[in-house]
Amino acid sequence: MITLIQDCINNKSSRTPIWLMRQAGRYLPEFRSIREENQDFVKLCLNTKLSSEITIQPITRFDFDAAIVFSDILLVPYALGQHVNFKKDFGPDLDKIDLKMLNQVKKKDFLRKLNPVYETIKEVKTKLSVRNKDTIGFVGAPWTLLLYMLNRKSPKEGNFNIFPKDKDIHKILVKLDEFLKIHIEAQIENGASIIQIFDSWAGLLPEKDLEYFVYKPTKSLVDFIRQKKTISICFPRNINNYKKFVENVDPDIINIDYSVNPSVISETIDITVQGGLDPKILLQNKEFVRNEVTKYLKTFNKKRYIFNLGHGVLPDTNPDMVKYLVDVVRSFNG
Ligand code: CP3
Repeated sequence: MITLIQDCINNKSSRTPIWLMRQAGRYLPEFRSIREENQDFVKLCLNTKLSSEITIQPITRFDFDAAIVFSDILLVPYALGQHVNFKKDFGPDLDKIDLKMLNQVKKKDFLRKLNPVYETIKEVKTKLSVRNKDTIGFVGAPWTLLLYMLNRKSPKEGNFNIFPKDKDIHKILVKLDEFLKIHIEAQIENGASIIQIFDSWAGLLPEKDLEYFVYKPTKSLVDFIRQKKTISICFPRNINNYKKFVENVDPDIINIDYSVNPSVISETIDITVQGGLDPKILLQNKEFVRNEVTKYLKTFNKKRYIFNLGHGVLPDTNPDMVKYLVDVVRSFNG
């Protein structure tokens, strides 16, 4: 069965598909009530019953066109042996990386640790396929994962160093390439029809380092996803030149952030575009939301466009506003 997003890529879509990054998250009371009883975030991600329930929550409420599996990009460092703890009001807190251990990780142990994620995907896929919706799996891009693994916490501007391209960095990138492909393959085998690659910190790199840290390692994953006949979405957040990224990496879909002018993107990029709207706009009043959403819809009208945000839904967002957003997108007709 062809989904709305697949139709959109092929230029045949009857309406604009919509789903949101972090659509399952803290802005939903039904998520918060599960979260309150499950303080260990990694454990929650590895609880198939609860993770699949959380994944479906926003579909039940808003009937989005795709579900993104409830998990986290940092489960890959976790499965590679680097302990990850999500601290309240701080974010992720990683143990020091152990290169010797990293070199000894076996594929079967990695897959066993992450097996609950694959079981979640299987369950979500079964529930969604009758409703003809995509199941989106994901990975962190090598650069963003490398940054978390070395910096051991979220890298705010200024509190990290650009690493020299030394042998250790190279070895970590090679390991990430190997294990991200294993993770992608297992997600696809268990029912993911799309893989999104999150490069949340691509914008921290100077132009001269993009080829080594972003284009080359991301292209390797995109080519792998294409070999598996699966759709890829790239989100190199805050990058200056999306056109150059698309030329170098060649994904099926590019997610843009809100710092770029959508008209310029629409005029210069030929592939399917996703996202863009500043998630802070959903904290404003309805009239403002309608105007801003309509701007994106008009800019990409008659082009291949998937409605989404320029980053994840903020925890303070009112679910009623998300419902309003979905109504505005679905009732737009050129
Ligand atoms: O989008 C979805 O609904 C799917 C699930 C998903 C989560 N994280 C759940 C989550 C996805 C796709 C991610 C990706 C992710 N994780 C990224 C890339 C996208 C981005 O946000 O830039 C990054 C950088 C991470 C790492 C991460 N996870 C951080 C820095 C944090 C703490 C900050 C925060 O937003 O709370 C998390 C925690 C996290 N991952 C939460 C959720 C729902 C919040 C957990 C909670 O405290 O309840």
